Amino acid sequence: MKKEDFLWGSATAAYQCEGAWNEGGKGESNWDAFVHDPDKNPKGITGDVANDFYHRYKEDIELLAKGNQNTFRFSLSWSRIIPSSNWQINPQGVAFYRSVLEECRKHGIAANVTLLHYDIPQWIEAEGGYLNDQFPAYFARYAGMVFDLFGDSIPYYVTINEITHNANCAYLQGKYPPNHHSVQELCHVGYNLVIAHARAVAEFRKRKLNSKIGIVHTTNTVQTLLDTEEYRIARHRGDLFKNLWVTDPAILGHFPEDLPGLLEEAGIDLSFVKAEDLKLLSENTIDFLGQNCYTRTLVKPYVSGETNYYRDYEGKGEVLERLVVKNWFESDYDFSLPRDEWGREIYHKTVYDMLKGIQKRYGDIPVFITENGCALYDEVDENGEIRDDKRIDFMKNVFHWMLKAREEGCNVIGYYAWSNVDVYSWINGYKKRYGLVYVDFDHDLKRIPKKSWFWYRDFIAHSDRD
Ligand code: BG6
Repeated sequence: MKKEDFLWGSATAAYQCEGAWNEGGKGESNWDAFVHDPDKNPKGITGDVANDFYHRYKEDIELLAKGNQNTFRFSLSWSRIIPSSNWQINPQGVAFYRSVLEECRKHGIAANVTLLHYDIPQWIEAEGGYLNDQFPAYFARYAGMVFDLFGDSIPYYVTINEITHNANCAYLQGKYPPNHHSVQELCHVGYNLVIAHARAVAEFRKRKLNSKIGIVHTTNTVQTLLDTEEYRIARHRGDLFKNLWVTDPAILGHFPEDLPGLLEEAGIDLSFVKAEDLKLLSENTIDFLGQNCYTRTLVKPYVSGETNYYRDYEGKGEVLERLVVKNWFESDYDFSLPRDEWGREIYHKTVYDMLKGIQKRYGDIPVFITENGCALYDEVDENGEIRDDKRIDFMKNVFHWMLKAREEGCNVIGYYAWSNVDVYSWINGYKKRYGLVYVDFDHDLKRIPKKSWFWYRDFIAHSDRD
């Protein structure tokens, strides 16, 4: 496979890497406000400095290039480009992203840029954030400004990262800002985000750019251990909850047919749904799908408990990742499979199942694996090296399954390892590492390529010759 036929790269996100939270004219974001509130963020860990990408982007992009990577996924900080409610553009923020793009161009690296990866301006959060029915209009206005500022210099635009995961963590689990726990709000926020996405696509189409636009979804392919009628119903409802309410409208232009009825049956007030929004959806589908692929979701018929999502933010291997949707389904477990230290099942084949599932439901839409990675407590050994053999083994297996799906006709066009260098891992802090390059967060933020970085570099070089 020639390198030009397939993009190989790695990914990051603004809040997790940039730092410089109050430099260069940047406004406050919802994450800045959240991490600085000791009641909400008792651990006190912040992304104020993160890995300092704001000042070290040249070094990081050079590392990508030296690692044979030809694409880089990153996100824009909305509050760096438009710091306040007066909607004035911050020239320093724009200059920063222009330099990042120029650095990519110099190294022959295709930029894949996300407009919204969890961080929104705090003034919007204060007005109700995603729950405010003005949110789609705000997002479309911001997106339009970004398209005008950067135009074709960005070949791949992504509207929003992981609507489902962000909504679940922020409005169901209550761990991400604004820390709410309400199923009604979860549904409303999910709807507003899907509409915000479509409105941004509409802004993009108006400008007739040569670039492509997509959305990034986190696919947890939903599977069951048994194949009975009850399990099949639980599987379908799991798919509705985890995937279809985002991917159907983004790709097919409409919500799944049975979704409104099932939600109303569950007591959800759907009065926020508007006919003009549904029309907008049908007219604004995407060019490509970005799939963040970490694991699958194993479900069984619902037994008990209130709707909720549980994750292990301590990394002691004590809490299993768990999802309950009352009367619909709940998590199941295959204890014969390994788990990471944060209670997440390790199941490499999920990338194959995911690509096959997309092909079956959506045909030939081009798919990027926009994130995939292995969380570890990496450490520097006595020789100054980071021997992350588990990560290499993880990547080898994932590549085997991804390339098998490609050989069988799935239209996967690129892969991004999460993450290019170590980043801030939301509520987990800095000990949960995914990077191909180690960052010494306790001292000088020095970058040290891990063994996996070298392995990936050689893998890409080799794949270019085949
Ligand atoms: C994805 C996000 O959900 O997973 C990333 O897009 C995130 O921003 C990554 O960092 C890994 O998740 P976590 O919570 O382990 O950092």
